[in-house]
Amino acid sequence: MERAAGSVGAALAARAVLLEGSSAEALLRPSGKLAVAPSDRVRFGMMGVGMRGEDLLETSIKLPGVECAAACDLYEGRRTLAKQILQNDTPITARYQDLLDNKEIDCIVAAVPDHWHKQLIVDACAAGKDIYCEKPMTHRVEEGFEIIDAAAKSNRIVQVGSQEPSSVVYAKAKEMIASGAIGKPCLVEATMGRNDHCGAWWYSIPPDLSPQTVDWDTWLGSAPKRPFDAVRWTRWRCFQDYGEGIPGDLCIHHLTGIHYVLGITAPPKRAFSQGGLYRWHDGRDVPDVLTTVYDYGDFSCTLRVTLNTQTENGFRFMGEHGILEIHGVENPHSLTVKAQDGLDHDACTPAWPQPMEQEYARKWKAEHPAQADPPAGKTEATSFQAPAFYDDTKEHLANFFHSVKTRTPSVEDEHFGNNAAVAIHMANYSYFQQTPALWDAEAKQVKG
Ligand SMILES: NC(=O)c1ccc[n+]([C@@H]2O[C@H](COP(=O)([O-])OP(=O)(O)OC[C@H]3O[C@@H](n4cnc5c(N)ncnc54)[C@H](O)[C@@H]3O)[C@@H](O)[C@H]2O)c1
Repeated sequence: MERAAGSVGAALAARAVLLEGSSAEALLRPSGKLAVAPSDRVRFGMMGVGMRGEDLLETSIKLPGVECAAACDLYEGRRTLAKQILQNDTPITARYQDLLDNKEIDCIVAAVPDHWHKQLIVDACAAGKDIYCEKPMTHRVEEGFEIIDAAAKSNRIVQVGSQEPSSVVYAKAKEMIASGAIGKPCLVEATMGRNDHCGAWWYSIPPDLSPQTVDWDTWLGSAPKRPFDAVRWTRWRCFQDYGEGIPGDLCIHHLTGIHYVLGITAPPKRAFSQGGLYRWHDGRDVPDVLTTVYDYGDFSCTLRVTLNTQTENGFRFMGEHGILEIHGVENPHSLTVKAQDGLDHDACTPAWPQPMEQEYARKWKAEHPAQADPPAGKTEATSFQAPAFYDDTKEHLANFFHSVKTRTPSVEDEHFGNNAAVAIHMANYSYFQQTPALWDAEAKQVKG
């Protein structure tokens, strides 16, 4: 294994390269010393300590100079979990407003269901707090523009929590593509397949979950009112009232990766989705198979996800000089570039009569000696591997806390988050309305 990123020219040689871990975490130690001075510390409030929040909280408190000043969750069991993680007397409450009122808190990390994202971001900005909010940034198209206005008005830092823009693997992919390793990307494919209850969001219901242990009315937020429902609380991804199905939960990672790697700064022009609910007839109102084809103007993109079969997970960026593959989607650890020269290696003379064909081939070979006789044994693939136990979520959090400390822009701000979120809303619009979805940038609306 060789260390670090070689030049792109060298990428076409045969080798496997170990990528360096990112320096995001090191940025949080300005003096390079192990201990961070109190004046250099960032104090955050944790909103939502569920499946994702648990990971974000555990990871954040291990970062240098980062402290949790308070946490909140609407469910008693998750408040107990927060206490177990923090192991001290940090205040833990049910009300997120308590965190916004707390002057000790510099910023918020939020991991609540998607129908709550907009409100938490807007309220955090109004309270003068920066916020890291989980993906997708929005539950509805119009919310993205409310968030953009709120962040601008309050001059707060917003970072969306799809971690791809902080990953060394995606950074390498971006660098390779920008320097022409595969030529102009014309087609991108991303795929993901799962085949178990957990992968299909059918999580176990906590046995003590009840209106006594969870504040159900607050949890519903802006969603339609309904009586307490333990299935909806636990498996909210299965219902359009709270999540966005496959696009919002999974394709948002694809789209974030693609937008970051290719430097996309606007939503796609058109989307067309096809799929269905074929297996999980468990009361959910979203499909379990979905393919969406996007038109980005100068390239096409296909995202294919199934919750019914385990498949390969990853990306393929394709251009006239080759294919760049990112292996894995939720936590990719490597990429491979396979070069193609995009040239003819023989005269292209389909169904020509003799001797015209022979004569043309002879002349062609004489005029194209290098192409006609490619060097034997040329190896055309290079792999880049992230370090063992590489954690892009840790890098993403470290980048956020660094932005908060230094007042520098976030690596995935509200504009970036909105462009990716609009793309997921287009996918759902197309599926549910059974029509191609068009992005009307002027009207800021998805149209059929
Ligand atoms: N980036 C990733 O790889 C990744 C992975 C998983 C989940 N996520 C995202 O994280 C978010 C949370 O997902 P999850 O699986 O942890 O959900 P979850 O249901 O397990 O946990 C959410 C928690 O938020 C609490 N909550 C809801 N509304 C609240 C409010 N107004 N105030 C305080 N607490 C509130 C709930 O009680 C619950 O405990 C989602 O947006 C999801 O898309 C991201």
